[in-house]
Amino acid sequence: MPWKAKDSVAVVTGASSGIGKCLTQQLADHGCHVIAVARRAERIKQWTASRGFGGVTPLAGDITNSEVRSNIRSVIETDHKGKLDLLVNNAGIGGIGRFAEASPDRLRQIMEVNFFAPAELTRLLLPSLRRGSAPVICNICSVLGHRAVPDKSEYCASKFAMHGWSDSLRAELAADGIQITLVSPSTTKSEFFDSLIDTDPNQQSRSLGHWSPQKVANRTFDAICRRRSEVILSLGGKTLVYLDRLAPPLMNKLLAQRPVKTAPAKSSDH
Ligand SMILES: NC(=O)c1ccc[n+]([C@@H]2O[C@H](COP(=O)([O-])OP(=O)(O)OC[C@H]3O[C@@H](n4cnc5c(N)ncnc54)[C@H](OP(=O)(O)O)[C@@H]3O)[C@@H](O)[C@H]2O)c1
Repeated sequence: MPWKAKDSVAVVTGASSGIGKCLTQQLADHGCHVIAVARRAERIKQWTASRGFGGVTPLAGDITNSEVRSNIRSVIETDHKGKLDLLVNNAGIGGIGRFAEASPDRLRQIMEVNFFAPAELTRLLLPSLRRGSAPVICNICSVLGHRAVPDKSEYCASKFAMHGWSDSLRAELAADGIQITLVSPSTTKSEFFDSLIDTDPNQQSRSLGHWSPQKVANRTFDAICRRRSEVILSLGGKTLVYLDRLAPPLMNKLLAQRPVKTAPAKSSDH
C-alpha cells in the first residue's frame, strides 16, 4: 500500500532550511499536516505566512533536548489523537577536519544531533506511528553513511550509525507494517556548510557535484510515497557507494592517495 500525503500527519525535523524546509512545503502542498521542528521556528513561521501554507505547525526546539522531543509527542496527542503517519529524521549538522586535531565536543555534538536524538525521537513516537496509516520513518542519511571518507570521521560515524540502526529497525518493525525509508543524498547546496562546527573556515574538501535541496526533497517525497527501503541519490553518490561495494581495497587506496584539499568546504560531499 503506498503512503498518501493527503490528510496525513507528519513530523519533519530540521524544517527551517534546506531539505527539511522543501520537504515540509511539498508535504503541505499535498494536503499533509506537518509538525515542523527546528531551533529557528520563527523562520518556519515566516515562510508559512509569506507563502500561505496552511497545515504546518512550527515547533521550536533543539531535538537533543528530551523535553522538546516530549513536546512533539504532546502535539501529536493533543492535535492529532495520538496518530502519526510519517516521521522524517532530517535535522543534521557536520564538521570538517582531521579527527586527531578536533575537539572531543565535535564528535559528541555530531553524534547527539545526527544519531542519538533521531533514535530517541523515533522510540518516543513509535506508539503514535503504530496508529498511523501505512506509516513511514524516513531517515535522511548520506552517501557518507555508506562509504566513509577522510576529514569527516565524526559525520561519517553518525551517518553509518543511522544506516545500521535503520536496517535493524526496518526488520524489527516489518511485522507492525512500519517502513523505514533511508535516503542518502550527496552534496546538497543548503545552509549545511554555513554551520559546520569546530571547523577551520579555510578547511577544504571534496565534491562529486551537487543537487539543490528542492531536488533532494522531490526524490525523498517520491521514496516516501513508494515506501522504498533505501535510495541513494545522484550519479556521483551511486558511483562512490557501488564502487566501494565492488572493490573496497581499491577505494581505500584511492581515498588515501587523493590530495586532501581539492575544493572549498562549501561544496563538500555530505
Ligand atoms: N547538505 C548536504 O550536502 C547534505 C548531503 C547529504 C546529507 N545531508 C543531510 O541532510 C539533512 C539536512 O541537511 P541540509 O543540507 O538541508 O542542511 P541545513 O540547511 O543546514 O538544514 C539542517 C536543519 O537541521 C536543523 N537542526 C540542526 N541542528 C538541530 C537541532 N539540534 N535541533 C533541531 N534542529 C536542528 C536546522 O535548523 P535550526 O538551525 O533552525 O535548528 C536546519 O533546519 C542533514 O541530516 C544532513 O546531514 C546533507
